Amino acid sequence: MKIAVAGKGGSGKTTVSGTLARALARSGHSVLALDADANPMLGISLGVGPEETDRLLAVRQGVDAGETPHEPTTEGMVEAFGTRAPDGIRLVVASRIDSVAPGCQ
Ligand SMILES: Nc1ncnc2c1ncn2[C@@H]1O[C@H](COP(=O)(O)OP(=O)(O)OP(=O)(O)O)[C@@H](O)[C@H]1O
Ligand SMILES: [Mg+2]
Repeated sequence: MKIAVAGKGGSGKTTVSGTLARALARSGHSVLALDADANPMLGISLGVGPEETDRLLAVRQGVDAGETPHEPTTEGMVEAFGTRAPDGIRLVVASRIDSVAPGCQ
């Protein structure tokens, strides 16, 4: 099952996404939460804390700046751009890449 949450600024996307992810995880589902927002704050909603949320943003920005290598595999992306959140959720911060390297997802 894939669920996408989109909408106007300030309409509650992050709050709804975090609540959905935690509710599904607590009911036994394996949850991969992908934050593709330009200002990724899902980590706050999921409870990973502000420092880890900022770290994930910095890793993504490193790709845009050419300082962090592209990840050719899904598993690699989850490791490089993700973290573990409460309730067993895996959070990944990734979005559109302006300059795509060969083999990049
Ligand atoms: N169901 C709700 N009832 C009351 N307040 C809410 C509800 N959902 C979200 N809010 C509040 O509305 C504000 C915006 O919510 P949220 O950050 O989830 O929106 P967003 O769409 O992700 O915003 P952005 O576009 O800035 O990323 C927050 O202050 C949040 O606490
Ligand atoms: Mg948001």
